[in-house]
Amino acid sequence: MTPKLAFITGAGSGLGKELAFLLAKKKIPLFLTSKDPHKLEDVKKQLESQTSIFTLAADLTLQKDLDHLLQVLREKEPDLVINNAGFGLYGEVLSFSLDQQMKMLKINVDALTAISIESARILKEKKSSGTIMNIASAASFFTYPSFALYAASKRFVKEFSLSFDEELLPYGIRVLTCLPGRFQSDFRYKASSHKSSSSPSWDTMSLRSTAEKVLLQIEQKKRCKTIDWRYQIFCHLALLLPRRWISKLLKKGVDAMI
Ligand SMILES: NC(=O)c1ccc[n+]([C@@H]2O[C@H](COP(=O)([O-])OP(=O)(O)OC[C@H]3O[C@@H](n4cnc5c(N)ncnc54)[C@H](OP(=O)(O)O)[C@@H]3O)[C@@H](O)[C@H]2O)c1
Repeated sequence: MTPKLAFITGAGSGLGKELAFLLAKKKIPLFLTSKDPHKLEDVKKQLESQTSIFTLAADLTLQKDLDHLLQVLREKEPDLVINNAGFGLYGEVLSFSLDQQMKMLKINVDALTAISIESARILKEKKSSGTIMNIASAASFFTYPSFALYAASKRFVKEFSLSFDEELLPYGIRVLTCLPGRFQSDFRYKASSHKSSSSPSWDTMSLRSTAEKVLLQIEQKKRCKTIDWRYQIFCHLALLLPRRWISKLLKKGVDAMI
């Protein structure tokens, strides 16, 4: 069913912005949020000839911004919610300040959870069906030194979404989650101390193809999907190998990007 209004977090750049472009092409009205109001304004200018766009800048690490966003969500009542905003930190836990790490958990876990719960509550009260798509990560499969909190935060997203979906099925409300592998965006640049994005490796997916796969999963209402086939094979094989061995290999990969 075509959504009446799609809400996307982290729509100012990367995957969130790409999803907004694809949904606008289908003429689906959009409610977009991101931290940076200039990036949001720019996205709005590019898309408003195709569909109606409402934007609201909010820093999801700030409780007052999150509260305001939830209030506007209650007014707008979106029936497609994509919890996409998130970031990671490459490096050992003790190499970052507590503040930096708590901010990451606020976005990846707290804000996503609050938005999922409130969106589901709105849909249930209205007796409407709808879909919540929570973007996790293939990192959620692993014990991941040098990416520990991020991987753990995404495992939370996956597990919470799976259980919440089961609870909401009788009401026609779905909570889907996808586990993308690496795709092209500023994510790696922001997560590391690199001055610019590192060149894509063999396993880096394009932003467009990742966004298309997320939308296909929503259309097909698949509960949980690893994106793409290379990661499906890699994660499956890696889980058959000794956990410590895989962890060391993964840590080596991240440490090379710091
Ligand atoms: N790229 C990958 O390889 C990869 C792999 C697996 C999963 N993921 C997940 O995919 C999602 C999208 O990531 P991406 O790669 O597209 O990264 P990105 O280009 O860095 O986009 C992240 C988005 O999150 C928003 N955001 C960051 N901090 C925020 C805050 N404090 N308040 C509100 N919004 C904030 C950013 O907003 P502003 O631009 O306005 O700051 C941005 O729009 C994330 O959840 C990420 O964990 C990424």
